Amino acid sequence: MTTQELWDQLTHPPAPEDELWSVFHENSKTTRHFLALPDAAVLARMRQLHETLEYAQYPAVPLPERPRPLTAELGPVLRGRTSVREFAQSTVDFDALASVLHHAYAVNRPAGGGQPRSFRTTPSPGGLYPLEVYLHATGVTGLRSGLYHYDPAGAVLRHLHDGDLTRDLAACYVQREIVTGARILVFLTAWFERATFKYGDRGYRFALLEAGHVAQNLGLAAAALGLGAVNLGGYFDHELDDLLRLDGVTASTVYSLALGPVTGDD
Ligand SMILES: Cc1cc2nc3c(=O)[nH]c(=O)nc-3n(C[C@H](O)[C@H](O)[C@H](O)COP(=O)(O)O)c2cc1C
Repeated sequence: MTTQELWDQLTHPPAPEDELWSVFHENSKTTRHFLALPDAAVLARMRQLHETLEYAQYPAVPLPERPRPLTAELGPVLRGRTSVREFAQSTVDFDALASVLHHAYAVNRPAGGGQPRSFRTTPSPGGLYPLEVYLHATGVTGLRSGLYHYDPAGAVLRHLHDGDLTRDLAACYVQREIVTGARILVFLTAWFERATFKYGDRGYRFALLEAGHVAQNLGLAAAALGLGAVNLGGYFDHELDDLLRLDGVTASTVYSLALGPVTGDD
């Protein structure tokens, strides 16, 4: 067999043509036939869509103006990162939670250069920021147990539900015990229209990719602050979306993470 034939054998395994994912992937490829919206139409639609949900009627918990800095060196944090599934039952400092959120998805510079949205700590397709971040916290000093929405534009948490929902949330996960032991659960939800109005089906891919960026920032910021984290994709979508009061179609949970103090730090 020639090296060219070997290459082809490696890169052309039997095609999985009937699988839904392969149909989706094929249909979300950029082609030269894709008719891009004119810039003015994109800007007009962005102005109609939310930059961040406001939840203005819910109690606000302001986040620190100067979030706790991450002083750990990036190299050792990257090399040392590992999934943590068992957490200590000590509390998490509010400042540490605020710092994790800040480094994950905060506004890091104002709108400008024709872009109507403030920029964030993660890259975003077209600067559209299709994600909303929710979290459930128990055992965070100075923060009542319950469900919160993180508003990066207002640098504020909104208290959406007062009270510990751990039991209900754990029931939404394949690995209940991880959720039960974690102090914080972060839910990354995608508001698909914010990306698909511009990019069509590819916008769906983009929303998921952005969630990966935010999740990585969350995990690394947590690790830099000495907290443990695990990414959790094993949840029952309908049940979790119901709990977050999302319809699961226009908006749905696309990723989640559990965070908490690492054992040995008690
Ligand atoms: C998209 C995604 C989903 C994941 N979902 C889960 C999960 O539901 N439960 C879990 O225990 N770990 C989950 N993980 C963590 C992986 O199991 C873990 O990263 C992998 O075993 C490698 O181990 P490490 O993170 O310690 O390096 C997920 C990771 C990714 C990237």
